[in-house]
Amino acid sequence: MLKDAGCSQRVIVHCRTVRVVADVISKRIPEADRDLVTAGALLHDIGRSKDHTIMHAVVGAEMAEKLGLPAELVEIIRRHTGAGLDEEDIATFGLPSWDYFPRTIEQKIVAEADNLVSDSALVSHRVPAEKLRSRGAQKGADRIIALHRELSDRVGFDLDLIVEMTGERPVENQCQRLRSQEKF
Ligand SMILES: [Fe+2]
Repeated sequence: MLKDAGCSQRVIVHCRTVRVVADVISKRIPEADRDLVTAGALLHDIGRSKDHTIMHAVVGAEMAEKLGLPAELVEIIRRHTGAGLDEEDIATFGLPSWDYFPRTIEQKIVAEADNLVSDSALVSHRVPAEKLRSRGAQKGADRIIALHRELSDRVGFDLDLIVEMTGERPVENQCQRLRSQEKF
């Protein structure tokens, strides 16, 4: 679906990496619908086929709706940026008015997993938090830290440690292995 939508290979590897992290989290939270988390993680950036600003979440949600995907999945896509957007962010970025906070456990897991992945590499939640802080988005940074604490508490360990379970670039390494197998 990402390919059909016109997403670059870079976005596809990013989405697959977010899926690996999201699966590690959802596996440890019994109430989470794991299939929904997997689908949400894989499709959260479908809007990047058309837009690379913060609007990509809205564009992606609209695309998912047009594709006839379930509302729960559409909302994961719409609410995945940072750890939610408040009224001030909505006004600043000129987004259509809506609730952009991740509220269900599946929405929270995908937003958190995305915060733990930069491009195709796992990073600490402090990386996106500091990025927002350096842009003056103090509240957005605090929300990233709060979401990280909330889900780390739910799972029972600091989610920054997932990198030790998966490696820094789980999908890229897999792709490289496949490429080298093809050669021989
Ligand atoms: Fe995104």
